[in-house]
Amino acid sequence: MVILREYGKERMIKVFITGASGFLGGHLAKLSAEKYSTVGAYHSYKFDILKVKSVYCDLSKPELLKNLFDSNKPKLIIHNAAYPNPDKCEKNPDLAFEINTGSTGAIAKWAERNNCRLVFISTDMVFNGRQGNYSEEDPVGPLSIYAKTKVEAEKLVLHECKNAVVCRIALMYGRGVLPRQYSSEWLERVLKEKYNSEIEEPILLFTDQYRSMISVNNAARAVMEVAFTDYCGIIHLGGAERISRYEFGKKLCGALGLPESLIRETKYDDAAVNTPRPKDVSLNISRASSFLKTKLLNVDEGLKEICQ
Ligand SMILES: NC(=O)c1ccc[n+]([C@@H]2O[C@H](COP(=O)([O-])OP(=O)(O)OC[C@H]3O[C@@H](n4cnc5c(N)ncnc54)[C@H](OP(=O)(O)O)[C@@H]3O)[C@@H](O)[C@H]2O)c1
Repeated sequence: MVILREYGKERMIKVFITGASGFLGGHLAKLSAEKYSTVGAYHSYKFDILKVKSVYCDLSKPELLKNLFDSNKPKLIIHNAAYPNPDKCEKNPDLAFEINTGSTGAIAKWAERNNCRLVFISTDMVFNGRQGNYSEEDPVGPLSIYAKTKVEAEKLVLHECKNAVVCRIALMYGRGVLPRQYSSEWLERVLKEKYNSEIEEPILLFTDQYRSMISVNNAARAVMEVAFTDYCGIIHLGGAERISRYEFGKKLCGALGLPESLIRETKYDDAAVNTPRPKDVSLNISRASSFLKTKLLNVDEGLKEICQ
């Protein structure tokens, strides 16, 4: 098993991050480049992050990935890129499986053949949400196409590559590092728009849908730390509390100094939704907390770090 602990020789370790132009990927690339030689891949948004070599990549053409890796020779791949919008996945299931699952199998095979460690970014949505507080041992039960593509990808990673870790990340909040509109920033963006335009209609947020929400900064730090341990298998990375979207909205308003009247509570059970979403996919994070130095923060701590 390759253990990436070459103290003093960090610059010589080549890290390859897919989806470095994305919300989590940008933070991962920025952190990685502080210590390691870092290549970041984009698809539609060519980015510029200090000390990160940016390369084009198309996950729908897994045959091209081999050339990309052969020429860059990474010792660690963080496969973070995805087709992550559940509604779009539901409408385009073939493309979703191609990008989220097919490419992951190809990456896992390359990593195994080339003695490369692989970190795969998965999601809390692999669970059906009927139980909550899910541990790494709990059975998966994907409800949507997006979740199914991730479950199949996880299986490929663990089957094809011995030196691999699957990081199941909870719903993320916070701010991306690049000057682009990330979909995960929508709530802060819409709150500010409503406040500034004095639009009366409040934002409806579910009181009966629970996640272990984690700030993107915190998630990136935890992923980078896990990557450089010898931990293999599945690990849950979420924030330190189970919270509904509505309660999160209240805390976000508080952190931004905005009135809570901008949001109003509603129930998932009463909503007409096109894509099935699990109700409680809160994650049990005791395994990660038992060995990571990175503290997994609750929402107040996470928001304080972002908004200060
Ligand atoms: N956001 C969350 O709350 C959350 C929660 C749990 C797990 N996750 C997982 O975390 C990872 C990152 O999510 P995110 O929210 O940061 O997503 P994001 O901001 O939408 O970024 C997605 C990244 O994937 C790249 N990408 C998309 N299609 C591609 C293709 N065909 N070929 C190559 N690259 C492609 C995008 O590149 P361009 O932008 O350059 O096109 C972008 O860099 C994903 O694996 C997601 O499933 C996210």
